[in-house]
Amino acid sequence: MKKILIAYISRAGHTQQMADYIAEGVRMAGCEAGLQIAATIKTEKDLAGYDGYIFGAPTYHRTMPPVMESFLFIAQQAGLAGKPGGAFGSYTHSGDAPLHIFDTMEHVFKMAMTSLGPFKLLEHLVDTPDGMRACQSYGRAIAQMLADEAL
Ligand SMILES: Cc1cc2nc3c(=O)[nH]c(=O)nc-3n(C[C@H](O)[C@H](O)[C@H](O)COP(=O)(O)O)c2cc1C
Repeated sequence: MKKILIAYISRAGHTQQMADYIAEGVRMAGCEAGLQIAATIKTEKDLAGYDGYIFGAPTYHRTMPPVMESFLFIAQQAGLAGKPGGAFGSYTHSGDAPLHIFDTMEHVFKMAMTSLGPFKLLEHLVDTPDGMRACQSYGRAIAQMLADEAL
């Protein structure tokens, strides 16, 4: 079974909730979903063994939290070129973090990023049926990229 890693950080729990729903979407598409808090990933070896990668962080002070920046320096060493990917995060008014993460995955890591683009979700929508479905759809779409690869 193909495996997708969802590595995220979350201060107040909203991006974590998104990660859980995205994992549900990945599983709905028949893939295995691994959920990891990005701060617990210490070396690039911790990122080995997955077929796709979805990274998430909330926006604070118009950027991603520093711990996510450190995580991306580790991920840069992991040889993710060509792997399917996506980026997500909860926000209230600007939502910059998922855009920056997506940008790094696409242009620095040279990953095969989802055509859906970065997925930012307003905080007040995360814990609603529509928010849940939007997250599940994002996870399902990236898992579907793996199924399409296999054809
Ligand atoms: C001090 C502070 C600064 C914030 N700065 C931004 C910001 O620049 N842009 C934005 O869209 N949201 C900003 N937010 C809102 C958070 O992104 C939002 O609460 C998000 O849902 C938090 O996600 P989390 O629960 O995963 O930590 C800020 C929140 C706090 C408390």
